[in-house]
Amino acid sequence: MNKITTLDEFIMSRQKDFAYASGELTGLLRDIGVAAKIVNREVNKAGLVSILGVAESENTSGDTVQKLDLYANEKLIECLSNSGECAGIASEEDEDFVAIPSVEGKESKYVVVFDPLDGSSNIDVNVSVGTIFGIYRRKSDVGGPIEREDFYQKGTDLVAAGYVLYGTSTLLVYTTGRGVNAFTLDPTIGEFCLSHQNIQIPKSGNYYSVNQGYYLKFDVEMRRYVDHCCDLNYRLRYIGSMVADVHRILFQGGIFLYPNTRKYQHGKLRLLYECNPLGFIVEQAGGRAITCQLERIMDIEVKDLHQRATIAIGSPEMVDEMEAFVKKYQAPA
Ligand code: AHG
Ligand code: MN
Ligand code: MN
Repeated sequence: MNKITTLDEFIMSRQKDFAYASGELTGLLRDIGVAAKIVNREVNKAGLVSILGVAESENTSGDTVQKLDLYANEKLIECLSNSGECAGIASEEDEDFVAIPSVEGKESKYVVVFDPLDGSSNIDVNVSVGTIFGIYRRKSDVGGPIEREDFYQKGTDLVAAGYVLYGTSTLLVYTTGRGVNAFTLDPTIGEFCLSHQNIQIPKSGNYYSVNQGYYLKFDVEMRRYVDHCCDLNYRLRYIGSMVADVHRILFQGGIFLYPNTRKYQHGKLRLLYECNPLGFIVEQAGGRAITCQLERIMDIEVKDLHQRATIAIGSPEMVDEMEAFVKKYQAPA
């Protein structure tokens, strides 16, 4: 029998690779793993309990909020509050950042950003959803109050990022900047077990993932690129959970696009909670993540907790090709 490596064992074994290896980052990743198991349990029984359905509120970005979004948000905050390794969080579901009280005088150096439940409109119809997270070293003085600047950090400042996909099986994928590894939840033992080591995204592929219903609202260069995908008979897959769509592309190759539309003139997806963490993972796996205006996602200056960005992410050769279309067809400035 192959030796099973649990997420905890793996994180511990990698701790020494990490520049500031004092165990805090290890603790944070572990807290997130625990929250993921709790959220997973609720997602799996979503059809059975009254938690299913739309809460009577909208999140700060104006989208309808499902009850499970709020549940996942609460559980992540609770789990990150337990060990004292996290000084503060910023969540897609909260308008402002939240300071986490210190535990037993511990002085935490990290803040965590997350989208507690991504693709939540899929919950009602039993389709995959996810959780996305990013971890930064705080910029403000350790021991003092956390500040807005702790969250206004570029993707290149991330020390770790990951996602959990609640799919046919539940998978946790993360990077600390030394490759990407995935862990599959074994429900019989309640542990995430190492299942995919050092993931490399295929250099190219034949999947494209975009809400093509918005085609007429795209800029001309994006319409030309989408036409090209159709010409080449690329296979269109669009789940409506960015995590699930990007996960397919990470493993099978392809490109995911969310361009600017008339409704979302700066794109819909959030830089902090969605684009940067997934950008870090895909780059670590050998892929690319840029905006539809061709700026590297991880280089974008953060000026707002709920800042949005357009995105083209996936196999490097396909993102290169999209870039060439934009250069060729975009209107001169
Ligand atoms: P969330 O559920 O966290 O609000 O995110 C949904 C996002 C993303 O996961 C998905 O790719 C996109 O919204 C779908 O948007 P459209 O329905 O506009 O295509
Ligand atoms: Mn989301
Ligand atoms: Mn969400």
